[in-house]
Amino acid sequence: MEFKNVIKERYSVRKYKPDMIRDDELNRILEAGMLAPTGCNYQPQRIYVLKSDEAIAKIRSLSRCAFDAPVVLPIALDETADWKSPLEAGCRAGIQDVSIVSDHMMLAAWDIGIGSCWINYFKPSEVKAAFGLPENETPVLLMTLGYPADDSKPLKLHNESKDMTEIVKIL
Ligand SMILES: Cc1cc2nc3c(=O)[nH]c(=O)nc-3n(C[C@H](O)[C@H](O)[C@H](O)COP(=O)(O)O)c2cc1C
Repeated sequence: MEFKNVIKERYSVRKYKPDMIRDDELNRILEAGMLAPTGCNYQPQRIYVLKSDEAIAKIRSLSRCAFDAPVVLPIALDETADWKSPLEAGCRAGIQDVSIVSDHMMLAAWDIGIGSCWINYFKPSEVKAAFGLPENETPVLLMTLGYPADDSKPLKLHNESKDMTEIVKIL
């Protein structure tokens, strides 16, 4: 798909076909994340793949926003592994790194006909405990993945774009 169409046509998919996505498709999505830039290239993102019946049942019990996706990726930040700024205390790259990696993956998914949704509606502490993540990792988002259902469509929110003049200021 042409890049401009990938970014224009992608929307958050919240209704999926039950079919499992293929391993080569999943790998292509994961590889796109590996190509994303991160602060100092420290790559502090940690990606978990949930696709077994047991893992999917567990994540659905922890977030109603896992929807009916056949695959869910908890994407975590290794708090010990991201770039920390020496210029100002507390400035660090971790959440930005996880975000850009995740966006690369969502766009790569759409390019091959796979829908996704970025989910913040979950308790990170619960997901961390349920899947035995190491102490130094914090789940930042859940990413659902799967083939969009035939009647999947964007929510109204999808089209609520602010005017560019509200967002961009030329100084
Ligand atoms: C940081 C972030 C958190 C989000 N959390 C949720 C969520 O918990 N549940 C959900 O259904 N959608 C969630 N979304 C999806 C947004 O609602 C959606 O991206 C936005 O409304 C624009 O619609 P579109 O993705 O269809 O273009 C989230 C998106 C982002 C970027």
